[in-house]
Order: sequence, then C-alpha cells, then structure tokens
Amino acid sequence: MAALNIENVWKKYGNVIALRDVNLDIRDGEFVVLVGPSGCGKSTLLSIIAGLEDTSHGTLTLGEIDVTDLSPKDRNIALVFQSYALYPTMTVRQNITFGMENRKVPKAEQDKAVADVAKLLQIEPLLDRKPGQLSGGQRQRVAMGRALVRDPQLFLFDEPLSNLDAKLRVEMRTEMKKLHKRLGQTIVYVTHDQVEAMTLSDRIVVINDGVVQQFADPDTIYQKPANMFVAGFMGSPSMNFIDVEVTGRARAITAVHRGDGADIDFPFGATREELAPYIGKTITLGVRPEHFRPAGEAGLTLTVNVDVVEPTGPDTMVVFSVAGKSLVGVLNAKFRPEEDDDVTLSLSLDEACFFDTEGVRIRGLAE
Ligand SMILES: Nc1ncnc2c1ncn2[C@@H]1O[C@H](COP(=O)(O)OP(=O)(O)OP(=O)(O)O)[C@@H](O)[C@H]1O
Ligand SMILES: [Mg+2]
Repeated sequence: MAALNIENVWKKYGNVIALRDVNLDIRDGEFVVLVGPSGCGKSTLLSIIAGLEDTSHGTLTLGEIDVTDLSPKDRNIALVFQSYALYPTMTVRQNITFGMENRKVPKAEQDKAVADVAKLLQIEPLLDRKPGQLSGGQRQRVAMGRALVRDPQLFLFDEPLSNLDAKLRVEMRTEMKKLHKRLGQTIVYVTHDQVEAMTLSDRIVVINDGVVQQFADPDTIYQKPANMFVAGFMGSPSMNFIDVEVTGRARAITAVHRGDGADIDFPFGATREELAPYIGKTITLGVRPEHFRPAGEAGLTLTVNVDVVEPTGPDTMVVFSVAGKSLVGVLNAKFRPEEDDDVTLSLSLDEACFFDTEGVRIRGLAE
C-alpha cells in the first residue's frame, strides 16, 4: 500500500478542460471517495492515476516514486470499473488467476491466492462457475477478487456498485467497508451515491467542472461545506438557500428575508458573531431539510403553507411556502399534513450555514 500525491494536475482534451489544477494528498491506507456531477472529471482523474491517460501538466507520486511518466503496468494499481468485464468463457477461478498466469506465478502460489480471496469475498462455492451463471453482486465480488490477488499499491474503483439493485448495493457497501478495515488498502472510489460517499470514505473529494471544491471528512463536508456548490450537492433533498439581509448590531443580529408581502425574521442575537461584518449586506442562509421539526420543539416557529407531501417510508418530505419562498423539509413519518394546510413548524438554527455573495461559506470565529 502507498500514499498518493497529486500535484497541480491539469487535463485538457482539445478545448475541453477536464481537470484544473487538482491537488490531493491521499494518505497511505486512506479510503477516498470522489463525487461530483456527471462530466465533472471523476473518471478522467482515475484514468490519470492509473496511467491510462497522460496529464497535460502536473505530477503524481505513489509512495516515494514519481509515476507521472510510468506506464500503467509499472504503477501496480488495480482498477475496478462499473462494467466488470469478466472473461465470459473462463471460470471464476480462471478469471481470478488470469493475470498471475500471464506473469507465470507458480501454480501453488496461485492456488493459495485464490483460496485466500475466495474466502475473504465468500465466493468459494462459485469458483468453478462461469460469469453468466452469477448474479450481479457475485460478478462484482469476482472482479474485486481479480484485483485483490494482485496486491497492488492502490485500488481505483469507478462506480463499482452502480448496476446492482438497491439491496445488493447496501450489502456490497458493507462488504467494501469491512474489506477496507481488514486489509487497510489505499482506495480511490468514484460514486454518484451520496450515502456510499458518506459511509465508506475517510475523506470525500467534491469536484465541479474539473475543480476540487473541498477535500475533507464526511462530517465536515456535510456540516461545514466550503461553498454553496458543496452545500447544495451533498444531502438529499438539497439544502434550502434563502436570501437574507443582515440587520441589527453586533451581538443582536437578525437575518431578514424580504418575502412576498411579508418578511421572515431569523433571530441570531449573539450566537453568530461571524455575521457582524455583514450587517447591512445581503447574504445567503442555508438550512437543511432535516432542520425543520414539528411545532413545539426548540427553534424558530414558522407558519407555512403546505404544497406537496411525499411520504418516503422512514420520513415525510414536505414542500411548503412561507412569504412566497418555497422550502423543503424532511420530518418524522408520522407528520402527514394535507396539501394546502397551514401548519406550524420549528426550525433549528443551530446548524444553519451562511454564504457570502461569492457563494463561499462564512466561517465561524472559532474555525
Ligand atoms: N477522450 C475524451 N475526449 C474529449 N473529451 C473528453 C474525453 N474524455 C472525457 N472528456 C470530457 O471531459 C470531461 C470529464 O469527463 P469524465 O468522464 O471524467 O466525467 P465524469 O465525472 O466521470 O462523469 P460521469 O459521472 O458522467 O461518469 C467531460 O466534459 C467529458 O466530456
Ligand atoms: Mg465517469
């Protein structure tokens, strides 16, 4: 296993700039997840790490070695893609040993390696089957087995669970996590699935338009997003953004949303001294859907008009409006208002975020 250092990496395809000055310091044994919208550069970054694509500029260091100009086979990196591309005519055992056969690894050593990964991945009963006789999740495990027998310096996964059904995804997610705990490999893992990103990673890289927006642990990404992009991208449904004017004076601050026919006052008093420099200015207040609670709990009381009610099973998602502003709340499953009802909610402001006119989060004084 090894640390991976990515320094000032750019990638251009003709006029398209796929990566802009990417800098990431990935620690030995770390599980790093890359997330971002379609086309933001995730697969490009993996291809560059693997050596399948050249960088337009920048360096990659794996362990102590500069691998920027090394061919993929000299980097000792294992890749597992979304489409596992197992050889259909070979058995599971042959699929796993194929690379070792090519490298002329002695038979006894091959058998030992297969036995070890088969036990680890619980595919022992499947070794003599062909890929066509396996389920999607089983094929996924075989592909991982093939990568694992190589004992690489680094694992790269590009959306490996994306074509599995919901239940298998959750099972395989747990398997991935256990495997990483046991073997401690360095992993860079691309996913569209936020829950996968939050649960698997030691740290998450959020990318937009080829630019790294934030590289931090999941709690920091969720609670202290670097900017409005990260705040809006992570979390489903998305964070609510509300334009507010900061009024009052230091230690007696109210943020006021100038709504249709009425204002909404968000009283912060002395709790958010970082707002003092913004008095008289308009900024953006960010509140997560789960910060809305049933009336009676601590927080700001708001009377809202219900537009849409969507029970999801464990929760109820409610779209409502207040002073002409449409907001989304996620409340307890028992909360089932009727559409067009006026209901009272509490909004906890403790974890509210603020963003300046550039969309950068305004940091607390203690940060
Ligand atoms: N070979 C190529 N030639 C030209 N442009 C490319 C090439 N490969 C990727 N791109 C462009 O580079 C950008 C990044 O693509 P990339 O495949 O890395 O996105 P991604 O984040 O993996 O997206 P997705 O989530 O859809 O898989 C896109 O604008 C894409 O169109
Ligand atoms: Mg991709």
